[in-house]
Amino acid sequence: QKDGFRFFMEKEIYEQSDVVSDCMLGRVNDNTTSFDEIDDSILEGINEIKICACGTSYHAGITSSYLFERLSKIKCNVEIASEFRYKQPLLTKDTLFIVISQSGETADTLEVLKMAKNAGLKTLVICNVDNSSMTRLADYTILTRAGIEKGVASTKAFSTQTVVLWMLALYFANIKNSICEDTMQKELTALREVPKALTIDDKIHEKTRRLSKRYLHGHGFFFIGRDVFYPLALEGALKLKEISYLHAEGYPSGEMKHGPIALADPELFTIALMPENLLYEKVKSNVEELSARDSTICSISPLDFELSDDFIKIKKTNHYMLEFFEMLVVLQLLSMEISIRLGNDVDMPRNLAKSVTVE
Ligand code: F6R
Repeated sequence: QKDGFRFFMEKEIYEQSDVVSDCMLGRVNDNTTSFDEIDDSILEGINEIKICACGTSYHAGITSSYLFERLSKIKCNVEIASEFRYKQPLLTKDTLFIVISQSGETADTLEVLKMAKNAGLKTLVICNVDNSSMTRLADYTILTRAGIEKGVASTKAFSTQTVVLWMLALYFANIKNSICEDTMQKELTALREVPKALTIDDKIHEKTRRLSKRYLHGHGFFFIGRDVFYPLALEGALKLKEISYLHAEGYPSGEMKHGPIALADPELFTIALMPENLLYEKVKSNVEELSARDSTICSISPLDFELSDDFIKIKKTNHYMLEFFEMLVVLQLLSMEISIRLGNDVDMPRNLAKSVTVE
């Protein structure tokens, strides 16, 4: 049931606009966001948020840490579940412990959830599968309503997780009164626009198809961005690795000069995430440095950037999170098109399984 799409992954990329609408249904109100699954008491006694997850879900977690601090004004940090598990972490009861998982079955994430429960912390899981091991265990569950995800490479699970976490940051902001009404209204307006931002423009899809012809010869890829575009860069690099088997790294663009820029040459493709609404000038100067060292630059931005070798133009918007979702689709399509051209099995990449239930 690929509904005319070549792969489930492609169908799931195209479905994102609809599933995100479902995910937001009844959760975005006139003056705030809300969830049937939780109430204001969830924040009682809480001073901090700790998030643990793996893979793509971990990237959604990093993205949200910027939003929890910026909007909810709650200290938030994020860790990879398999690392957290053995570091003998200090767990304090004023921490809300959030795990994020598409499947609700990932062994390392499940284990850290057990650790947090045993330490008496309040636990919340953001999950796509009801009645999974994690939803049965956590004190609270918020479902992402993405529907079944068949492609091994996660797409719509990530976009719905990110939207849930953004809505949660606003819900907490409302409880804590941490942003002014005007900012809240701007955030809510932007949230309502996410399904549109995830709607795929034929021209953009065609552009990724054309670029894939050359990009499959790349020796290495750097995906770079700042702030929430850094975890998005990590996600773009992970998608390319998983289904194209090409070497890719996600990096904060400001960190390139601290080592990785030594790799710059024309065979190194830099995919630069250049949002207009967040730190544009800062990223631009990081990309200029790479361009001056002859890296091949593909910029994804609503603004023309004269030093780009290739340019994927996204729609102009007035919120960086809308640019985030527009870029997400571009990154997903680009990896998929490269993978298809290489003749790979997009839905079932080698060595990977949909659910990692072993450590
Ligand atoms: C990447 C991917 C994996 C999963 C990871 C966690 O496309 O699918 O990195 O995100 O294995 O899985 P869940 O979210 O089910 O815990």
